[in-house]
Amino acid sequence: MADMNPASATVGEALARRGVSRRSFLQWCATLASMMALPVGMAPALAAAIGAARRQSVIWLSFQECTGCTESLTRSNSPSLETLIFDLISLDYHHTLQAASAEAAEAARRQAMQDNRGKYLLIVDGSVPTGNPGYSTIAGISNHDMLVESARDAAALVAIGSCAAYGGIPQAQPNPTGAVPVSAIIKDKPVVNIPGCPPIPAVMTGVLAHLLTFGKVPPLDDQGRPLAFYGETIHDRCYRRPFYDQGKFAESFDDEGARRGWCLFKLGCKGPVTHNACATRKWNDGTSFPIQSGHGCIGCSEAGFWDAGSFYKALSLPVSPVGAAVGTAAAAGAAAGVAIAWHNRQVKQAAKAAHGSVTVADLKKEEAK
Ligand code: SF4
Ligand code: F3S
Repeated sequence: MADMNPASATVGEALARRGVSRRSFLQWCATLASMMALPVGMAPALAAAIGAARRQSVIWLSFQECTGCTESLTRSNSPSLETLIFDLISLDYHHTLQAASAEAAEAARRQAMQDNRGKYLLIVDGSVPTGNPGYSTIAGISNHDMLVESARDAAALVAIGSCAAYGGIPQAQPNPTGAVPVSAIIKDKPVVNIPGCPPIPAVMTGVLAHLLTFGKVPPLDDQGRPLAFYGETIHDRCYRRPFYDQGKFAESFDDEGARRGWCLFKLGCKGPVTHNACATRKWNDGTSFPIQSGHGCIGCSEAGFWDAGSFYKALSLPVSPVGAAVGTAAAAGAAAGVAIAWHNRQVKQAAKAAHGSVTVADLKKEEAK
């Protein structure tokens, strides 16, 4: 990765050198503050903290993955502020992006670990094969051993993408390599899960910004995901939600309902059980997201999404993995749609009141009452 600024520069100085105006940086911080559920007044503090931060040392390990997470971050059409800020970290080791190879690369990783003992951030994408140490190695070191060695002196770990967070596609049945997520191996350090196949670049940057600003990991849900980005389902904020509430569903991808932008639930949309920020943050600099492009959400940021049945089969449960059967409801049309929407709003309000957040676990607790 090109080093565009001296290591001694602060993030603010480096952004200014790249032509990012103070105004656009402040606007980005205001958006970030709102995404992270911080009071709007926190934006200047966020800007001050990020702007004054020195480049954070990051070691990025890639195990059983497709490189989509790195592509998501680096292959945007035009460099976004998120990309620039990620450029401005000190990416001391990254299999795909580093120029060094072989012994020199491993020496760089160990040097970075030694120079930043206890302070560096360890980012991992990809799952870890445990079936046989030889299934995936780097410089003759098994993924498992490299993870354990690199995590030892890290300040925190970030598991990027559904493979690192949950095992992902490598773990899909019959899981031939014995793939496990990072959190199954590292138990003595905070592991922030940023699932998605791939994750939204702004969410990755948001977590990094939180670490730089507050010096600690952001509040997480019971699956280690930042609540600010994964606290709600796609369905909670989907612009097609009014049609769901009215029981107006597209029956095929080319019918009148699809043309009118009706709800894609009956075509298999997994938005009701998928926690992610796609409906609000969107992709490609806020341009669109899968549902806006006419396809249902396939639940790529949830555990085991690959083995959760057909992407085109309607869920049997509404809004969350709890509640009344929607198969019946969808068939019954508008009245049932309204009833289910009402039912789920009650469960959600109760969960919020009782637990202060709405995670799958909170909903399950409320539904069980
Ligand atoms: Fe949107 Fe899917 Fe929910 Fe329909 S089911 S409102 S398309 S998230
Ligand atoms: Fe994935 Fe669904 Fe978003 S498929 S990209 S979580 S809309």
